[in-house]
Amino acid sequence: MRWFWSLLGRMCRLPRSLWRRAVDGFVASLIVKSRGVVCGKRVRFEGVPVIVRNCRASIVLGDNVVLRSRPSSNVLHLAHPCTLAAVEPGAKIALGDGVGMSGATLVAACGIEIGDQTLIGAEAVIVDTDFHPLDPAMRALDQTAGAASRPIRVGKHVFIGARAIILKGVSIGDGAVVGAGAVVTKDVAGGDIVAGNPARVAGTAVRAS
Ligand SMILES: CC(C)(COP(=O)(O)OP(=O)(O)OC[C@H]1O[C@@H](n2cnc3c(N)ncnc32)[C@H](O)[C@@H]1OP(=O)(O)O)[C@@H](O)C(=O)NCCC(=O)NCCS
Repeated sequence: MRWFWSLLGRMCRLPRSLWRRAVDGFVASLIVKSRGVVCGKRVRFEGVPVIVRNCRASIVLGDNVVLRSRPSSNVLHLAHPCTLAAVEPGAKIALGDGVGMSGATLVAACGIEIGDQTLIGAEAVIVDTDFHPLDPAMRALDQTAGAASRPIRVGKHVFIGARAIILKGVSIGDGAVVGAGAVVTKDVAGGDIVAGNPARVAGTAVRAS
């Protein structure tokens, strides 16, 4: 038994970075997969994300996806981990290859699709449902039944700024940029920069050379 205590003692003295790597590489991936998430190749976790999946919903992560969930994963010091929630039967969250997220929250009652190489900034929120019906009489009967939901599609190579909010039914074209803190309620054309609340076109992402 002495060998066990000696091994444990040595492991306890391992540098914190090695413990972190062990949590990221093994524990986080085990927890995510145990929740029924389909992971592509070389998916990387920094800290453990929150996964909520209805048993008839799907969450799919492409190759080389990076989910940053630890406060120190981002210089903005994240207040909470990445959250992927596919909450209704048939709901689908699909992250394309190379997508990066820092403490962002995605909640799908029907579907959220994020294109390849898109970056989702610190604590951005993407929700395809209102969560509650708008009619107070309906809310009094049931707080959540009858909430409006429409799928969201974010294209490839999109850059979503910190704390932006993207609401139901929005489609964002390839290469667009969403400014920090923007509230996106309408479609964004590919290559446009949008900012503000409600988000309006503030420029174009592809500079003329
Ligand atoms: C949207 C953004 C990319 C625009 O950068 P830019 O092309 O250099 O634009 P400018 O700074 O020249 O601003 C253009 C106009 O948009 C406005 N604007 C820019 N960013 C804005 C924002 N986030 N919210 C509201 N308005 C904004 C500017 O005030 C300016 O308005 P004006 O023409 O009336 O003066 C940038 O401001 C931004 O929000 N970056 C995101 C940073 C971030 O969150 N990184 C991720 C961290 S995890």
